[in-house]
Amino acid sequence: MRLIRTENYAEMSLEAGKIIIDKIHSNPGLTLGLATGSTPKGVYDYLSQDHKVNGTSYHQVKSINLDEYIGLKVQDPNSYHYFMGQNLFNHLDFHENHTHIPNGAAGDLEQECLRYEQLIKELGGVDLQILGIGQNGHIGFNEPGTPFSSQTHIVTLAKNTREANSRFFNSLEDVPTQAITMGIASILESKEILLLASGERKAEALLKFMNGEISEEFPASALKHHQNVTVIADRDALKYI
Ligand code: F6R
Repeated sequence: MRLIRTENYAEMSLEAGKIIIDKIHSNPGLTLGLATGSTPKGVYDYLSQDHKVNGTSYHQVKSINLDEYIGLKVQDPNSYHYFMGQNLFNHLDFHENHTHIPNGAAGDLEQECLRYEQLIKELGGVDLQILGIGQNGHIGFNEPGTPFSSQTHIVTLAKNTREANSRFFNSLEDVPTQAITMGIASILESKEILLLASGERKAEALLKFMNGEISEEFPASALKHHQNVTVIADRDALKYI
């Protein structure tokens, strides 16, 4: 595992952005695994800015998002579909059929999980996966206790995940209780992984991740089984390391 220490969020975003852009230049048909939330927003701003200024093209790039809430319509401002449009897809030249996010409003959710897992395989797997980390160590929405062998599945969100994400909603009650997420095995099949972390609220999770045991009780620890993980984290997130 490689660790890139940065001074702050802006530098973390820049380092991650540069790696992604380099990969796209060397493989314009890359499959990118994408995350939502506060962590990757700065990276997405950097990619959007670079596209505008330097013209890096995403026309052949495919994207696969990690997760989506169950029960929110695609156009709901809190859906991850909406987030990705606002923060990334609307600013780049992705082919509209090349961006993929689980459908949390599907009639048959079990079938949707199977479809999504199959889709990842059809795309030849994820070349470069971007991950954030939850305060409880979740990756995607794989909460503590999720088997490392899991594929795309339906999850019940942990109480502290709903509390953490309630900052985007009007109230805690409005935060969906379930989501579809790529599983831990699905994530580990990615050829390369960038784990991003910023801010003091991630410091304990990063300490456990870097120094703790490998355990299903701490989902991010599964990444230690992977051969090509780069952690990009800022000073506040690394304050115990
Ligand atoms: C989002 C996701 C989650 C987040 C994590 C951290 O697609 O899969 O694992 O990466 O909850 O969220 P932020 O970045 O908002 O702190």
